[in-house]
Amino acid sequence: MVIVGFLGSPRVNGMNSNLLRRVLKGAESKKAQTKLFELIQCNIKFCMGCCNCVHKKPELPIGECPLDDEMSSILEEYVKADGYIFASPNYDGSITALMKRFLERKIALTYRPKDAYAKIGEARSPAHFHKKASMIVTANCPDEYREVMGDPCFETMGGHLMIEQIEIVDKLYVGGVENMSEETISEKFDEAYHVGIRLVEEIEKARQSS
Ligand SMILES: Cc1cc2nc3c(=O)[nH]c(=O)nc-3n(C[C@H](O)[C@H](O)[C@H](O)COP(=O)(O)O)c2cc1C
Repeated sequence: MVIVGFLGSPRVNGMNSNLLRRVLKGAESKKAQTKLFELIQCNIKFCMGCCNCVHKKPELPIGECPLDDEMSSILEEYVKADGYIFASPNYDGSITALMKRFLERKIALTYRPKDAYAKIGEARSPAHFHKKASMIVTANCPDEYREVMGDPCFETMGGHLMIEQIEIVDKLYVGGVENMSEETISEKFDEAYHVGIRLVEEIEKARQSS
């Protein structure tokens, strides 16, 4: 089983990075193979809105994009994986532009005929809910602000997942990151480790029941 993590913080040693690494460690403790994409290190260009990727070649698992960057190789790894972790800090009430830029390009995983106006695309390779994902959002606003600071980010990161037929397992909101006690940090890291364990267990359960 392969679990892939996507880090949406530009800080590669920040809170998201540390939480995400713990999630992956938890997944590894259940024998999963893991891979981490630090989006700040990846050559991902902005979607230019040509929609070539969405409208052409429904038989391909990833639509063809005219942009020359790393996105198609990342998507190739994405479609082969069984589980995903998306981690982003809250910036100005939402996910980072870094994470958003990546998510916009993920539209290449969907297909919609050009004349199917006002319709949402369908998954090129629907996962039939055998694949699962978990998400992490961090913010300065404490945990009581989860609804205001966490939920909009979970919504945005989860948008494509419904179309891809990927079930969300955990949504870990970690607030108050700038003045957190060592004790709380260690509790949150523990929680993250268990998010990784649960993700693998849920994928295994879905496999057994199919
Ligand atoms: C440009 C910017 C905007 C931010 N906006 C918010 C915000 O709207 N609400 C909030 O609670 N925290 C906000 N923060 C704090 C970040 O969420 C916090 O620094 C981040 O969660 C730390 O995660 P990291 O260590 O992984 O980068 C903002 C930080 C930056 C740099």
